[in-house]
Amino acid sequence: MISEFNKICVVGLGYIGLPTASLLATKGFAVHGVDISSKIVEIINAGKIHIVEPDLDVLVKSAVQSGRLKASMDPVPADVFILAVPTPFKDDHVPDISYVEAATRSIAPCLSPGNLVILESTCPVGTTEKVAGWIQELRPDLRIPNLSPMVIGSGTDFQLFIAHCPERVLPGQILKELVENDRIVGGINEPSTEVAKGFYKQFVSGTVLITDSRTAELAKLVENTYRDVNIAFANELSLICEGLKIDVWKLIEFANHHPRVNILKPGPGVGGHCIAVDPWFIVDALPEEAKLIRTAREINDAKPDFVVKKVKENAARFKAPTIACLGLAYKANVDDLRESPSVEIVRQLAALHLGDIWAVEPHIEKLPSTLALCNVHLVPLMDALKKADIIVGLVDHAVFREIDPCELAGKIVIDTRGMWHL
Ligand SMILES: NC(=O)c1ccc[n+]([C@@H]2O[C@H](COP(=O)([O-])OP(=O)(O)OC[C@H]3O[C@@H](n4cnc5c(N)ncnc54)[C@H](O)[C@@H]3O)[C@@H](O)[C@H]2O)c1
Repeated sequence: MISEFNKICVVGLGYIGLPTASLLATKGFAVHGVDISSKIVEIINAGKIHIVEPDLDVLVKSAVQSGRLKASMDPVPADVFILAVPTPFKDDHVPDISYVEAATRSIAPCLSPGNLVILESTCPVGTTEKVAGWIQELRPDLRIPNLSPMVIGSGTDFQLFIAHCPERVLPGQILKELVENDRIVGGINEPSTEVAKGFYKQFVSGTVLITDSRTAELAKLVENTYRDVNIAFANELSLICEGLKIDVWKLIEFANHHPRVNILKPGPGVGGHCIAVDPWFIVDALPEEAKLIRTAREINDAKPDFVVKKVKENAARFKAPTIACLGLAYKANVDDLRESPSVEIVRQLAALHLGDIWAVEPHIEKLPSTLALCNVHLVPLMDALKKADIIVGLVDHAVFREIDPCELAGKIVIDTRGMWHL
């Protein structure tokens, strides 16, 4: 199983890095995980996990107990370095690659000739080449492949292999998809691509497709943008249907009977660390050209305001209603609240002082501080179903889908996910 690459250093132990590190450890590699959070390092070294992902607890425990997964705050010399750090955007939707730069700078002193450096973080086009540039700046002793577009893919006088391999796993199914998904590997030159492909072939059962780093970077951005644009279409339809007093769920169901139509489901907005973020990396690169992409982003970003307005209109029928918001995560059956439109909706509702705002989120134990500070209460589902005047369905967690519509009788229900077919 193991080739000449025995030791792997994974930088960033979050939703992507930790499953990757523990999977590699259970495949027989010696894995050193790195995170800037001492708490995360401590939890992992205790064989525990700090995120919710099915079966990850068992995998990490076994990886740590076997001695093949260790974590610390500092990188160590290894054969392969995998960077899986965040790539958010700044307030003005400009990509923030400072985490990638910091992670690259942290591994630079540990690099030796023959190493493979893989950037797995989703990133703007050209970032993998920047990684090569930062390494070259810090390690003039190492010969890095020539980055001139004219010579990419040629020449043999270099000592490092550098590639991008975007991650495309679905939270909730990460461990299965890490192995089974097809992967796109793009090196900054052909040897880097080939070496990185060989590495992934050792643990990926899906097809490993090869290209250059820029195409690999854009492919990942485009995959998420495709989803965003199609969700924006569904969200726009939901507004049109509201105006025309037509049931959007039935409309979509009927339209999807057309053999070549597959309209996605509308929702309260688009959240998460990927779909709500990555399209901006394309808009930032070419704002004049990316008109549809920007509009889709704006439509999806405006959807929470529409939901808030609808709740406000209904709340006006009561003196001080109890409003229960079902779901805070950015999508069904996960605990991840990042960029979640539901959190934003609940925050805005609390700021309006319409009545008591309750949140039901079975996947978390504590409210994020943004909500706790504005007097939102985290309550069990049963309490919400018994006592709330208004139920706002925000996330289609399985446990919410199972609610018997009889339990909602007599309440005002605003179902942004089409869960209950009322
Ligand atoms: N979460 C997903 O489902 C998903 C899917 C595909 C791609 N991605 C991409 O993968 C990348 C990582 O995402 P994630 O969800 O794992 O993020 P995350 O926030 O869950 O984890 C990132 C980790 O990196 C650590 N970190 C930050 N800077 C560091 C540094 N300089 N050195 C060491 N550790 C550092 C953080 O403390 C954190 O624990 C992002 O680019 C994201 O867009 C994520």
